[in-house]
Amino acid sequence: MDLETVNKLLSDQTGNHATFYPILKERLNVYPCEEVSFPCEFLFFEERYLAIKKHMIENNVKQDIVDIGCQFGFQSEMFLDSDSYIGIDRYRPSYFMNSEKDNINYIVGTFPNVDIDLKEKTVISSMSLGYFNSYVNEDETQAINSLINALKEAATIYIATTKSFVDELSSHFKTKELLSESNAGDFHLYLLQK
Ligand SMILES: C[S@@+](CC[C@H](N)C(=O)[O-])C[C@H]1O[C@@H](n2cnc3c(N)ncnc32)[C@H](O)[C@@H]1O
Repeated sequence: MDLETVNKLLSDQTGNHATFYPILKERLNVYPCEEVSFPCEFLFFEERYLAIKKHMIENNVKQDIVDIGCQFGFQSEMFLDSDSYIGIDRYRPSYFMNSEKDNINYIVGTFPNVDIDLKEKTVISSMSLGYFNSYVNEDETQAINSLINALKEAATIYIATTKSFVDELSSHFKTKELLSESNAGDFHLYLLQK
């Protein structure tokens, strides 16, 4: 997706409708309505992914992407022109969006217990890691330690998570930047780079 389209979709954000609905609607009939409810209102956290894609283009960030907690992978639509996009989620939906494309792939499993090498990768984790620690380990401290131990291998991380999680993770990176603030609570978007 080019910068002009990204900027247009960002300027169309109102918070109460999905700007990707017109783009994806012909391909949504594979989902029963209990799986994807109210698709014209919400498909994924568009504004964060658009801000990430914009930052990648404007700053020439390598687009070998691993998106942890990708859900349906609707956001892969903006990474069709990227070198590679691998979505990871612990649930397999009826269909992972764009999974038939050569550069778009998916892994079903609970991170970090999946076969993925994050070295040289640009990782995205939007509203996923840091919020659902019990999926990883019943012991909160062990869960956080194993997540951070795996994530620290990445070259770049765009992460919308809790302040405490990002503070711990950032000690393994050279730079930490607050990319966008959330008005809704502890959901800010950060960028960590080696
Ligand atoms: C709130 S949704 C966010 C979806 C998408 N990233 C977005 O921002 O629109 C969180 C997703 O993360 C997945 N998830 C959470 N922790 C995970 C983990 N450790 N491994 C794999 N998937 C995980 C959940 O299954 C869920 O699909």
